[in-house]
Amino acid sequence: MNNSGLLDSLARDFERFKRELPRDFAAHVRSTYRIDLTARYLGETLPHPVGKGSGQLSLNASQLETDADAGLAFAVLKTVIAQDAAGAQSMAAWAIHETKMKVERRGGGWTVTWKGRGWDRSFEDYLTLVRVGRDLTRAGRLLTVPSVKYHLPRLNEPFRFDEYAFTTSALANAWGESPLLLEKDFSPTLAGDRLAEEKQQILRWLREVPACIREHSAVRLAMKLMNARFDARFQREMTEAASAADTLVVFNRLFDAERGVAYGGPELSDRNLRVLGSPTPGGGPGLSGTGNIHTGRLIVEYALRGCSSVQLHTFFQLPLEEYPATHGSRTQRALHALIFDPREGLIAVMLEREADGSLERRAGDLHFLDLLPDAHRPR
Ligand SMILES: Cc1cc2nc3c(=O)[nH]c(=O)nc-3n(C[C@H](O)[C@H](O)[C@H](O)COP(=O)(O)O)c2cc1C
Repeated sequence: MNNSGLLDSLARDFERFKRELPRDFAAHVRSTYRIDLTARYLGETLPHPVGKGSGQLSLNASQLETDADAGLAFAVLKTVIAQDAAGAQSMAAWAIHETKMKVERRGGGWTVTWKGRGWDRSFEDYLTLVRVGRDLTRAGRLLTVPSVKYHLPRLNEPFRFDEYAFTTSALANAWGESPLLLEKDFSPTLAGDRLAEEKQQILRWLREVPACIREHSAVRLAMKLMNARFDARFQREMTEAASAADTLVVFNRLFDAERGVAYGGPELSDRNLRVLGSPTPGGGPGLSGTGNIHTGRLIVEYALRGCSSVQLHTFFQLPLEEYPATHGSRTQRALHALIFDPREGLIAVMLEREADGSLERRAGDLHFLDLLPDAHRPR
């Protein structure tokens, strides 16, 4: 089929999938469009690049079941606050409870305003959720990855190794298989905290945290970097300092000091894409993009800067009437728009790049991972 024939198919698929998105839509995309959406996150191969970022949408088993049914590629569990064997949490201020989330417009896009922070139930409850995720992962239904916020010291203080030891070992035991896949969260509210006023302090965390975690278990580690309240150059310095991680999640939400809340929207993706856009040396950690991703075109923008997968939160929370699909879970409706929108969807933008000569077929297929710069392409 030529390009215009494919665009006709796309218009038809977009319409008919409004009622129901096939769970294995990646196989459909492969056979209909000869487009291979294979992606990578934390060393794992995914059928397509779209996952769910850690937060309020991965707090319980039923959310994970819905995501598995929708054909989401992966889900990062809500961030738990590390504790030692006695249950003490140095970052306890992050384990606060808040129920109300508000989806609001900001800067021409969407943001979610919410004042809560990490997991606010017991650590035992978190381990139960990790086991649910483990079972879904082993069944090949949904890759799930736990997320932790561990103790972060001031420059002249040592790390509290007992928190690292207890939390990491407990998660590894619950997971059962080695290595444990884990995200370490440096959250946007941390960026607004006095702890993060010092550049040297932040760089020390990024350099030393991977060894603190791996000391206790075999861990394949993603570090989710905050947007520090410094300039883009420092943001790149942070990325380099974190080079011992296996993957970097780039970059968590911005912090509005006036309102005391984290936020997203176009300002977030603009900044993230600008920081990622300057040449980075290859051979470093893999990248997973996050921040205001609400179209396939934005997935491509992150991929062009080295991201082999993406993690969304806000786009899975919009009012139902904002999605073009008329049926299905929010996860399905979001995937439908991200992949099949005839102008802004991932298929449309990959075909557009084929037509303008910036993406070529190999043995007849277009490949999502071919969007990445050479130095970032997984081998
Ligand atoms: C309500 C809410 C809660 C979140 N909680 C966490 C969290 O606990 N841990 C974390 O690493 N990221 C958390 N995030 C960040 C998201 O995972 C995501 O990286 C970020 O919002 C940027 O993506 P988005 O613009 O698609 O929302 C949260 C985001 C929102 C909106």
